[in-house]
Amino acid sequence: MMISVGVVGATGLVGATMISVLQERSFPVDRFHAFASGESRGKTVLFRNQNYPVEIISPETLCKGIILFGATSAEVAEKWIPQCIESGAVIIDNSSAYRMNPEVLLAVPEVNGHLIKGTENLIANPNCSTIQLVVALSPLAAMRLIRWVSVATYQAVSGAGYSALDELSRQQNRMGIKPGASHLHENIITRIGTPDTNGYCDEELKLMHETCKIMNLDFPVFASTARVPVRTGHTESVVVKFNSPLPAEEAASVLTNTPGITVSQSGCSPVDVVNTDTVVVDRIRNYPDDPTILQFWVLADNLRKGAALNAVQIAEKMIGAGPDI
Ligand SMILES: NC(=O)c1ccc[n+]([C@@H]2O[C@H](COP(=O)([O-])OP(=O)(O)OC[C@H]3O[C@@H](n4cnc5c(N)ncnc54)[C@H](OP(=O)(O)O)[C@@H]3O)[C@@H](O)[C@H]2O)c1
Repeated sequence: MMISVGVVGATGLVGATMISVLQERSFPVDRFHAFASGESRGKTVLFRNQNYPVEIISPETLCKGIILFGATSAEVAEKWIPQCIESGAVIIDNSSAYRMNPEVLLAVPEVNGHLIKGTENLIANPNCSTIQLVVALSPLAAMRLIRWVSVATYQAVSGAGYSALDELSRQQNRMGIKPGASHLHENIITRIGTPDTNGYCDEELKLMHETCKIMNLDFPVFASTARVPVRTGHTESVVVKFNSPLPAEEAASVLTNTPGITVSQSGCSPVDVVNTDTVVVDRIRNYPDDPTILQFWVLADNLRKGAALNAVQIAEKMIGAGPDI
């Protein structure tokens, strides 16, 4: 089976990673299209040793049945997705625009891949922090009932797109802080996005709501999210309370045998996960006075499993290709 494929936001960080992942995994691409904004008119994108001009997406540039990987902001996605669905395209979108829409599947193949039918016209790819969290939590939820989860994130700057990464480089090169930009270098940003009336910011709400939607479970997720001056690789400190004791050794043994997860006890860092496809669960331990509480670290490359790889794995499930998860 050969398929027409388009990447919308092909000049961005997720779009570029998407192109690499499609190449690496030999996705059966017949015709390839790269889409971006008018700013990128005249640019080309390299795919399988061929240069493709960057196009502006419109019903005329689409062919029926094309699979589009969306890698634009939510505001931009809300504009192009409805008209592309109308044109008969199938969309796997990385933005937050449709993630919490009850009609739209929010998919992580390792967790709820069984729900992918292949007939959907739109599937949403979760937030990067959520994907690595649910990959680690899902096998544990199958062992014991989860009462609550507490997660503190240390998120890389690439999670905010290429302009944030450029800004970090500027600041690292002592070129000052651009007006309106965050102080990223040698700093920690403890508020990612606008806080709601309860004081939870966007990034925290995404973790809280998306986790329960993907796992189809209802437990409180106490989320605190922060941006740290690391280029790529998200790190999360996770505490899980179960309804009965779960020994760390038992949890480690099950996670070790779960595809997509690497268990470590040695202290993993973001640099260890850059350009890898695995979710690392590190330093699993029970709270000494309460064996129903498990603590561990979860790390992943936010651009790969946290975005592009997960999207391509969804597409593979849709077309019945790729390795089994
Ligand atoms: N970065 C991550 O780790 C990560 C992880 C999970 C999900 N996401 C989500 O994925 C999406 C993309 O993130 P990113 O980090 O790749 O952002 P980015 O680096 O800022 O790239 C944004 C892309 O959108 C394109 N774009 C802007 N306006 C457009 C328009 N009107 N029509 C078509 N394309 C347009 C840009 O093209 P130009 O170059 O022409 O401006 C660029 O290619 C966001 O919704 C983000 O929240 C990101």
